[in-house]
Amino acid sequence: MPPPQKSPLPEPYKIKMVEPIRLISPRERDKAIQAAGYNTFLLRSRDVFIDLLTDSGTNAMSEQQWSRLMLGDEAYAGADSFYELEAAMREVYGFRYLVPVHQGRGGEHLLSRTLITPGQYVLKNMYFTTTRQHIELAGGIFIDVITPEAHDAQTNFPFKGNVDLEKVEQVIKEKGVKNIAYFWIETCVNMAGGQPVSMANLKALRKLADKYHIPLYFDATRATENAYFIKTREPGYQKKRIKDIFKEMMSYADGCTMSSKKDNLVNIGGFVATNNPTVFRKLKELVVVYEGLHTYGGMSGRDMEAVAQGMREMVDDAHIAFRVEQVQRFGNLFLKAHIPIVRPIGGHAVVLDARGILPHLDQERFPAQALSAAIYAHSGVRVMERGIVSAGRNPKTGKNRHPHLETVRLTIPRRVYTDSHLAYAAEAVIDLIKNHKKQPLLKYGLTFVYEPDTLRFFQARFAINSSHLTKA
Ligand code: F0G
Repeated sequence: MPPPQKSPLPEPYKIKMVEPIRLISPRERDKAIQAAGYNTFLLRSRDVFIDLLTDSGTNAMSEQQWSRLMLGDEAYAGADSFYELEAAMREVYGFRYLVPVHQGRGGEHLLSRTLITPGQYVLKNMYFTTTRQHIELAGGIFIDVITPEAHDAQTNFPFKGNVDLEKVEQVIKEKGVKNIAYFWIETCVNMAGGQPVSMANLKALRKLADKYHIPLYFDATRATENAYFIKTREPGYQKKRIKDIFKEMMSYADGCTMSSKKDNLVNIGGFVATNNPTVFRKLKELVVVYEGLHTYGGMSGRDMEAVAQGMREMVDDAHIAFRVEQVQRFGNLFLKAHIPIVRPIGGHAVVLDARGILPHLDQERFPAQALSAAIYAHSGVRVMERGIVSAGRNPKTGKNRHPHLETVRLTIPRRVYTDSHLAYAAEAVIDLIKNHKKQPLLKYGLTFVYEPDTLRFFQARFAINSSHLTKA
């Protein structure tokens, strides 16, 4: 235990290598964001000062991970590094079989194709962009069964990632058990702002899965952050180690998809895990078609070594406590300034409530997209829209989906930025929101100039909405 002290415990590591960053001038930033069509995904990273676009693949690896890169076995088939990865997954997650993939969505593709018969439903706690896309590409229909609190930015419910169990039973009754392909439950729900699922809820879901014989898979992308919230918020878990809480969570699932680019503390990689030998056989058949042989699945041997090491580091108690608490401290800066953010503060990001910040803008003027572009222009900080643009169009009607949450995500990479980087980002964003609401992006919003058919948020281009100029 540390000696008694008022300030939080510092980073549980010291910094051995640095990467210079630079803040370009306001004029250069204006030019850069215009050239990017007001889409932060289309900025060049050299023009970004502090990059809070995503926590995906932006982690800093440890010295142990870097050293293990040298041990990568690059054999096409049967590489030692695969067996290392499989052993680490069994130890930390506890599932029987592992199929490596190049990143999360590769696994989503394989699992959706394996488990969905076209026309079946997949029940999820809120959508994620690529997961819903893969459900639909496999002929499935996504149904959101997240607890209603998750759709309201301002309710301070501790487990906003929970599944609404009554709704699940109702959907099963309505659609028929045979028409439910599987439950796909995200642990720490990204699109809700990094909101956890309680252990009690996971246990109850397991019971439902057994009762109806419906497979239960997790999207375990940020499950370690979820485990930390269980430890700090759910009675009975305060004294438990994160690795034990994590393993208990996983024990309720039949398997998981995983983007290793998040919790696993690497820059690329992912896997699908399952306890079901039949599912495993099908996944193995598909992985060789779409990713690579079943003992590398799109990763190099050294990538697999780094993921294996990252799995063990992610459940270290000091690591995860610092990681989540840093996000909490960042969020508290916004709360103190009375800026509307999604509450409670999530595990990987602070999420601005763009509806609350720009109430004059209709959702069809893309308030969160406009706010994201304005934040970059104002500060050099890069963030991501998570609202109507990310939600896309309903494939049946072609109409824009209108998610309740219209948000901007300030996502914290793991082990990369210090509290002083985050203090700069918070101060700049608060200043923009408090003192510069009349700037054209925030006043008028945006319109599409180019809209891709799928996952449009990645590559869409926008212009400042000029309809106010043409009105009589
Ligand atoms: N599931 C969740 C919950 C995710 O957040 C992501 C990626 C994926 C699956 C897909 O994994 O990127 O490795 O293919 N989220 C990133 C983000 C892109 O910024 O939120 P991937």
